[in-house]
Amino acid sequence: MADSATPRYTSIGVLTSGGDAPGMNAAIRAVVRAGNYYGLRVYGIHKGYHGLLRGEMEVLTNRSVSETLQRGGTFLQTARSKEFMTEDGLQKAVSMARVFGVDVVVVIGGDGSYRGALDLSKRGLPVIGLPGTIDNDIGNTEYTIGYDTAMNTAMQAIDKLRDTASSHERCSVIELMGRGAGYIAHNVGMACGAEIVLIPEKETDFDRDVLKAMLEARNRGKKHYIVIVAEGKGDAVEIAARIEASTGIEARATILGHIQRGGSPTLRDRVMASHMGVRAVECVVQGRADRIVSVQGGKVVDLDLQEAMAMTKTISEEELRVAQILSL
Ligand code: F6P
Repeated sequence: MADSATPRYTSIGVLTSGGDAPGMNAAIRAVVRAGNYYGLRVYGIHKGYHGLLRGEMEVLTNRSVSETLQRGGTFLQTARSKEFMTEDGLQKAVSMARVFGVDVVVVIGGDGSYRGALDLSKRGLPVIGLPGTIDNDIGNTEYTIGYDTAMNTAMQAIDKLRDTASSHERCSVIELMGRGAGYIAHNVGMACGAEIVLIPEKETDFDRDVLKAMLEARNRGKKHYIVIVAEGKGDAVEIAARIEASTGIEARATILGHIQRGGSPTLRDRVMASHMGVRAVECVVQGRADRIVSVQGGKVVDLDLQEAMAMTKTISEEELRVAQILSL
């Protein structure tokens, strides 16, 4: 319940920061539309924190965000700003928000972007964080915007690679993104029926888990092999060379790379981003800033910024157990 101590915010800025992710546009659109619905002025800040400290922002109306829901990338663009990481850069960002009368900044991004948001909040500029990264590696939420689309993109690519691997009786080693985490690789591996999935969350004995497993499969009559490696675990080119040299099975490496970051967002990413964007605005309307929007038990909630930043998560033992049963 609002009382006289509850801050009344009238103007917000929204920015996307760090690596882009499909669904970021859906989140911006939701922030703009919900903001306008509640009578807030909404500024779109271009190029992340870099644009904030340079005052690159404009008022967005409901019209400004039409035809954005289905588009990949972020129409506000994003950047990794070195200047923002300095005290001078942070001060510039805070004073630029004052110049434009921005009361709260909604930051859509990953872990690094959240650290920037915390720095702003410590200097007196209230923030709200929305999880946007394909990696799903933010400790305080079950789900991040862009994760579902990236996994579907990777799954479709690997289905194609399987066709050619099978025709040639080859091993296809595919490196997937995820930074230091294996969420994308783990799930895509299960969805594609990969023979072997190498992720940072699981220890690997290369001789036993890769070479022996492949040779035993070959001896049982297997005609092709899909090996998925998370980028945080190893290098597809090096692994393919090692497999071929040790087993005699012809191997080819594919690094899927930034293709995983592009494309029209899936239904799940659009819907989740829309809910999260509205939640962010409703926090502002209720005078509750310095919050992180999160998914817990499948529901969109918001958490205290400092507490959320200390939370961690990993791939569960149960998930790993099921994947193990289904491999080879
Ligand atoms: O965080 C998203 C991500 O795509 C990671 O999976 C990857 O490690 C990194 O960004 C790549 O960053 P850049 O776009 O700077 O090459």
